[in-house]
Amino acid sequence: MQPRLCHPGSFQIFAIIFLVALAALPTYAAPPTDQTDQANAGCVGLKGVNPRCRPQETAYHREYFYIGGRYVPDPVLGGNLVVDQLYVEKLIPAAGRVKQPYPLVFFHGGGSAGNVWLQTPDNRKGWASYFLERGYAVYIIDQTSVGRSTQEDLAGYPLRIGATAEIAQIGFTAPELTNPYPQSQLHTQWPGKGTIGDPIFEAFVAQFIPLTSNLTRQELSMRASGCELLSLIGPSYLISHSIGALHPILLSDQCPQLVAGNINVEPTTIPFQSFTGSANSSSGRTPARPWGLTNTRITYDPPANAPTDLKRVNNETDTPALRSCIYQAEPARKLPQIAKVPYVALTGEASPHITYDQCIINYLRQAGVKVDWIKLGEINIHGNGHFLFLEKNNLEIAAVVEKWIKKTRKQ
Ligand SMILES: *[C@@H]1O[C@H](CO)[C@@H](O)[C@H](O)[C@H]1NC(C)=O
Ligand SMILES: *[C@@H]1O[C@H](CO)[C@@H](O)[C@H](O)[C@H]1NC(C)=O
Ligand SMILES: *[C@@H]1O[C@H](CO)[C@@H](O)[C@H](O)[C@H]1NC(C)=O
Repeated sequence: MQPRLCHPGSFQIFAIIFLVALAALPTYAAPPTDQTDQANAGCVGLKGVNPRCRPQETAYHREYFYIGGRYVPDPVLGGNLVVDQLYVEKLIPAAGRVKQPYPLVFFHGGGSAGNVWLQTPDNRKGWASYFLERGYAVYIIDQTSVGRSTQEDLAGYPLRIGATAEIAQIGFTAPELTNPYPQSQLHTQWPGKGTIGDPIFEAFVAQFIPLTSNLTRQELSMRASGCELLSLIGPSYLISHSIGALHPILLSDQCPQLVAGNINVEPTTIPFQSFTGSANSSSGRTPARPWGLTNTRITYDPPANAPTDLKRVNNETDTPALRSCIYQAEPARKLPQIAKVPYVALTGEASPHITYDQCIINYLRQAGVKVDWIKLGEINIHGNGHFLFLEKNNLEIAAVVEKWIKKTRKQ
C-alpha cells in the first residue's frame, strides 16, 4: 500500500509540534535591560548560559588567528609539528569603526586563559566590553603553552596545577575570612561570598586551567610570537594581570618600539622570588626569575652576561603587611630597553599584592625605569582584591586605565 503522506490528523499533530517548538525558542520579548532585571530573570553567573538570557557584553565582531610558531620534527609520528604558536582573538566594536589609534592586547594571569577579559563570573561586562564601547580594537591572547595555545609535551611544555579552590579563596576571593595579611580586612569588592558553594565563586574557580612548568620555554615563545603579533598590528598598549605581566616586560625588552605602554594589573609577584599560595597562607616564597624580572636574559646596562652578574641585597623589612624584597646592590644595572616603554602598575587596596608590589616598583625605578604606580586605595577606590578587573567596581578601574592611556598618548 502506498503510504499516505497526509493522513487525517497529521496537520493537528504538526501544529502541536510547531507550537511546542515555538514555545522553546529563545525569546527576548521583554529583554532584561539592566543588572537588576537580569538578576530577577535568573540570568546571574552560569545561569546566563540559558538562551533566554540577554548577553551583557558589548556587541563585537570576532576573528581568531594563530600567530608565530615553527616546525619541529615529531619523534612519535614522524613528520613536522607546529609549536610555539600564539592564539589571538581580534575583537572589533560592532557599532561603528575603531576610533582609537592604538590597539589593546590583553594578557591573562597564571591558571587563567584569555576568557577572563570577557564577561565577569557574575555575568557583568568585563574589560574587553568596556574598551570596545570606547572604540578600541581589542586583542585577547592565550599565552603560549596554555589554553588554546596548549602545546605538545614533547615541545618542552609539561603542564602543572595552577590554583586550587582553597588558594583562590585565600588569595583572591575571600582573603578577609582567614586574614593572611591585615589589609585583607578591607576586601569588599568580590561579587558574592567568594567561597566554595557560592554560585559566582563556582563560576570563577571552574575557569582555572593548568600552567606550564617550563617558564623558560614559555618566555622564549612569547617573545617571538608576541613581537610578531605586534609587528602585524602595530604599536599597542599591553594590559596584563598577575604573572601574565611578565610577558609585556619581555616584549618591552625585545621590541620596545612596538609597545605603546605597559599596564600591569597586580604585576608578576616580586624580583628573584615568587610568592606561592597554599591552603593556609599566601606568603610562602620560592626562588624564581634569576634575571630579576624574568627567567630568560633581558638587556641590562652595563650588560649582565649571567644571572650571577646581578648582585643582590635583601631589604630586611618583612611583616605580613609589608613584605621584604630583593633589590640590586648599588650601583644597580639599568634596564635601557624596558625604560623606553611608558609603565604603570595598579594594585588593589585589599589584595595580597598591596603587601609586596613595592618590590617590583622599586626594582624598576632602581634600574632607571620611569614608573607610575596607582594604589587604588589612594585614589579613593576601595576594597579590591587580586582579580580587580572582575570585581564589582571593575569598570570604574577600567576608566582609571583608560585615563592613563590618554595621558601617555599626550606625552
Ligand atoms: C624547558 O625549555 C627549555 C628551552 O626550550 C629547554 O631547554 C628545556 O629542556 C625545557 N625543560 C624541560 C623540563 O622540558
Ligand atoms: C592548613 O591548616 C590546617 C589546620 O591548621 C592543617 O590541618 C593543614 O595541614 C594545613 N595545610 C597546609 C597545606 O599547610
Ligand atoms: C626597605 O623597606 C623600607 C620599608 O618599606 C623602605 O623604607 C626602604 O626604602 C626599603 N629599602 C630599599 C633598599 O628599598
